[in-house]
Amino acid sequence: MSMDGDLIALVNKLQDTFNAIGGDAVDLPQIVVVGSQSSGKSSVLETIVGRDFLPRGQGIVTRRPLVLQLIHTPDSSSSSTSGLSPSAHNNNSSSSIRRSPRIGSTDDGNNGYLPNLEHTPTAGAGIMRPGGRQMNEYGNVTYAEFLHINRRFTDFEEIRKEIENETYRVAGQNKGVSKLPINLKIYGPGVLNLTLVDLPGLTKVPVGDQPTDIERQIKNLVLDYISKPNAVILAVSPANVDLANSDALKLARSVDPRGLRTLGVLTKLDLMDAGTNALDILTGRTYPLKLGFVGVVNRSQQDIMQDLPMDDARQKEEDFFKTHPVYRNIAHRCGTKYLAKTLNAVLMTHIREKLPDMKARLNTLMGQTQQELNAFGDATFLGEQHRGSLILKLMTEFSKDFVSSIDGTSLEIST
Ligand code: GDP
Ligand code: NA
Ligand code: MG
Repeated sequence: MSMDGDLIALVNKLQDTFNAIGGDAVDLPQIVVVGSQSSGKSSVLETIVGRDFLPRGQGIVTRRPLVLQLIHTPDSSSSSTSGLSPSAHNNNSSSSIRRSPRIGSTDDGNNGYLPNLEHTPTAGAGIMRPGGRQMNEYGNVTYAEFLHINRRFTDFEEIRKEIENETYRVAGQNKGVSKLPINLKIYGPGVLNLTLVDLPGLTKVPVGDQPTDIERQIKNLVLDYISKPNAVILAVSPANVDLANSDALKLARSVDPRGLRTLGVLTKLDLMDAGTNALDILTGRTYPLKLGFVGVVNRSQQDIMQDLPMDDARQKEEDFFKTHPVYRNIAHRCGTKYLAKTLNAVLMTHIREKLPDMKARLNTLMGQTQQELNAFGDATFLGEQHRGSLILKLMTEFSKDFVSSIDGTSLEIST
């Protein structure tokens, strides 16, 4: 297993430990999309996750923040509970859903922002499509749950409908925007513990039931999310609008002036005027961002209306870059797959940077627990002490792994 894989396992374990002692543990980055309305934020987020489930389209579609938590669960895919025989996994011929032959024959289907993108050869960590396919057909996502409704979802089309209904319920039928987030958790062995946030787009002119100060309201809403120092900002700008007018970059710069945690995403490269291209932006000559710019081509409105499957769209995107007279030389660092890889790397760097701090906090907690234990003296007060020793045991166990995985320096525990 690579170092990165170890880090993911480590962080998951760290999270469990802190959870057990009731602490808010790992300050993992939230990935937040920012951009003007219809710049392609929801489309980008959806392709990063690798699933078809976000409402998207022309005009204002995303009207409440969607806080999407991916939650890693232990792998139990070998004993499928879906009723599908194991042989049905990855078996394209068993599906009545259209699948592009060139993709079906070569692609492992693992297109999403999954930790497994590189580390685990989970072939067929697949692509969900609307139309009743069960999430767990491929074993990497098991089910989803909203905070507002006590029910498990296993169909991404139903999830999309629920997001829409819940948007209407709180933000009304007429283009209203609410800062009240929709919380959605997606569980499965193939996902990394990670939070992604989809946000309403920045606008200027009120429409429908929107208040006159809608521009300010949305801006403040976005700022709430991106000012957190651990937020990774995906600043989405459409390539068919001059970058100098990018609301995404403007707002991102206001909270991240040095461009350290802002990743530029340039959408709609397929819609640029003939004779123009975004080479200078993509190669960092136009606007400096430490994490750079990645160009993508999402599904067009027509693609959405025709239900173009995600993997076909991905192939189309790849072809676009590979055959483009200007982009073909940088095709390897364009596209959604590369965006996912870049995010993965950003995340890993972040986790590495945070490890010493987590270790220090753990050390403090352990010191406190030890003191509490000492105060109880010998094993006389069963109730409280039992709890205390359980915690200490958990922490001690954890710290062994923790320490050996970081830097060899030892935590001071005396048990
Ligand atoms: P959001 O409002 O920023 O969340 O944007 P959406 O993801 O809802 O997309 C808005 C519209 O732009 C939809 O009709 C998408 O199909 C379209 N769109 C997004 N990205 C691209 C792209 O890269 N190319 C093309 N042709 N259309 C895109
Ligand atoms: Na939109
Ligand atoms: Mg949207």
